[in-house]
Amino acid sequence: MNSMATDTADLCVCHRDMATANKIKDMASNIVHITDLKEFIGHPGRNKIGLLLLNLDLDTKEELIESIKQRQPQLLLVALVSKDMLENPEIRFLLKNYFHDFHTYPLDYPRLRHLLGHGLGMARLHVPNHAGRSPSTANTIMGESACVEHLRQQILRLSECHLPVLITGESGTGKELVAQTLHRNSPRAARPFIAVNCGALPRQLIQSELFGHEKGAFTGATHRKIGKLEAADKGVLFLDEIGDLPLEEQVNLLRFLQEKTIERVGSHQPICLDVRIVAATHVNLEDAIKEGRFREDLYFRLNVVRLKVPPLRARGRDIQLLAHAFLIASRQSRVLGFAPDAERAMLTHGWPGNVRELMNRVQSAAVMCPGRYIRAADLELGQSSSASPDCLREIKELAEREALAKAICQSQGKMSYVAEQLKISRATLYRLLDKHSLL
Ligand SMILES: Nc1ncnc2c1ncn2[C@@H]1O[C@H](COP(=O)(O)OP(=O)(O)OP(=O)(O)O)[C@@H](O)[C@H]1O
Ligand SMILES: [Mg+2]
Repeated sequence: MNSMATDTADLCVCHRDMATANKIKDMASNIVHITDLKEFIGHPGRNKIGLLLLNLDLDTKEELIESIKQRQPQLLLVALVSKDMLENPEIRFLLKNYFHDFHTYPLDYPRLRHLLGHGLGMARLHVPNHAGRSPSTANTIMGESACVEHLRQQILRLSECHLPVLITGESGTGKELVAQTLHRNSPRAARPFIAVNCGALPRQLIQSELFGHEKGAFTGATHRKIGKLEAADKGVLFLDEIGDLPLEEQVNLLRFLQEKTIERVGSHQPICLDVRIVAATHVNLEDAIKEGRFREDLYFRLNVVRLKVPPLRARGRDIQLLAHAFLIASRQSRVLGFAPDAERAMLTHGWPGNVRELMNRVQSAAVMCPGRYIRAADLELGQSSSASPDCLREIKELAEREALAKAICQSQGKMSYVAEQLKISRATLYRLLDKHSLL
């Protein structure tokens, strides 16, 4: 485990046994030790702590945990617990409702180190950044799934070059966020990022919006106007919904991509520009080409490198990670988390509106839910929230996914328990998790 910088989430260990506490303290710097949970509430460094490692036994009072979580909803709890305690219903209740993870005695220090490293990483996601902004508004691509990690790697690789990029993906998957991240990590970061929604511009204004115009170029052109391309010089022009760009403007854009110069409307003076074009679309441009709505030559110019943003339903447990981040960002400290039925429903829902839909549902539920935990109904996710399956194969698939989701939630993500509960081998479990994108 890396030592933690002082402005990041630190760890507090609550254990009566000094020898155990000291061994844990040796694992990293910035570890605070308390012997009684009551000390936590009055601890001066409490607000900086992101992870609380707690020796959980029958003396642990739910009210105390709840009052700590109420004061500090973003705090993650990890329990140290004996194996036989896991059979106790009260302990199981506490683990299920308040804890991010647990580790059973005897302590296996390498595993514990791994668990705490992961927990602190998660806790850091929950810490507001320096501007006091919440994680969702911090403009970072959140997620730990393999497909999101792959996307992040691709973005980093592409950041260094100046090639045009075409970003594809369903609505609400984060295409604009990907474009912003690409810009932020590139040598153009200090230069402008200009976004244009090609579908939202009135047809007659598009050319002057993109290329600018001279005074008197047309009726109403009372002064010279700089277009978006010129404004993005040395930076990035993000052309959202590129599939909606009218054919005449496609020709002009193609000319710019070939010649790297523009002419303002009403002028024949070429202006040389250095603009990286990043385009995005949620429609299939290949179909648009077949239907004569999109120029093939422009497509080849834009599609030099393609980034595919995966749909939310393919990101497995990132759904829960994002949901928790959006809940914290909503600053509804009254709400402590998600009830098990909500966690399950989130894993089985199809998310046609992707991350935006998840964010909207969580934000609304955080305000409207009557209890301390958001339930499936608060998210307006019913048992059969996905489109109802109409053939036996689809019914079986949905049932399989629901059973997996339920077992994952009940087992706090521990795959050996999931396999045990479903009475399948680990190999079969991983095959099914892969099939349902739940890995
Ligand atoms: N991985 C992520 N982590 C955090 N926030 C995300 C992530 N992906 C998307 N978002 C958030 O979800 C919202 C939708 O993202 P964005 O606008 O980039 O999607 P889009 O694909 O451009 O959608 P549309 O096709 O509707 O234009 C934004 O508020 C964005 O910050
Ligand atoms: Mg968009």
